Amino acid sequence: MTVHRMMTPPSRTLARCYDLTVLGEVGSTSDEAKRLAATGAPHGAVVWAKRQTGGRGRYGRQWDSPEGNLHVSLLLRPEANAATATQLSFVAATAVHKTLSAILSDALVQGEVSSKDVNITLKWPNDILLNGKKIGGILLESATHADGKLDWLVLGIGVNIAHFPDDCPFPATSLDAVGVKGISAKIVLSRLLHHFAVDYGIWEHDGFAPARAQWLHHAAYLGKEISSNLENEEISGVFEGLDADGALLLARKDGTTRRITSGEVFGK
Ligand code: BTN
Repeated sequence: MTVHRMMTPPSRTLARCYDLTVLGEVGSTSDEAKRLAATGAPHGAVVWAKRQTGGRGRYGRQWDSPEGNLHVSLLLRPEANAATATQLSFVAATAVHKTLSAILSDALVQGEVSSKDVNITLKWPNDILLNGKKIGGILLESATHADGKLDWLVLGIGVNIAHFPDDCPFPATSLDAVGVKGISAKIVLSRLLHHFAVDYGIWEHDGFAPARAQWLHHAAYLGKEISSNLENEEISGVFEGLDADGALLLARKDGTTRRITSGEVFGK
């Protein structure tokens, strides 16, 4: 007799933990999620706000957060070392990719967008691009116990749905700008939470390799010449890939490979 063992789908685990707080307006959903973390809120707390008055991006940049866009932060408490925290921003980026790709495919079928306007790529480390312009970003913040294990991690995710800023240092866009009309932040959020729960379960079960492979499959500038702003220098080379921790590997003209763990990259 053959016994088929039914494994609980990994997606169940985090999806069952989601505890959603919905706010009309807040300074920053990530600050609110961090405040919840300090009061002992559990793994899976989610803070969603219609508007943010003090939305933050990387490098302390302002993140424009008008109503109609998605602003959400997830509080996670993985049993993992702090060093693995960055892996989860790649997991989140692949979940955003799946969410937006499906929405754009639907819009393509409906005739709302043209096939040249549906190219979602991922730019190292945490940017989501639509046709080469920034449509979303991820802000990762974490706290660690004395033994090096993560206490909490907050993934703040912003997606430009109805609006995009026209005064930022990089070109930006939104779903609305390419013709996707009438998709609400609520729909984008529910699809994103679903994809993230599935991908998080795979990360817990199989480690970083699946997310890393998916991320690379959609990576902007892979195999191309890029430059990167490090603290005291700007270096350039060919974007070769990601290492096992998510660091960017840059092949230099002198034959060496440089491992970059933080900073911004630019296509040439
Ligand atoms: C970036 O690309 O610089 C990251 C942007 C992250 C923005 C999101 S919106 C929800 C959450 N709350 C914040 O204040 N920031 C993140």
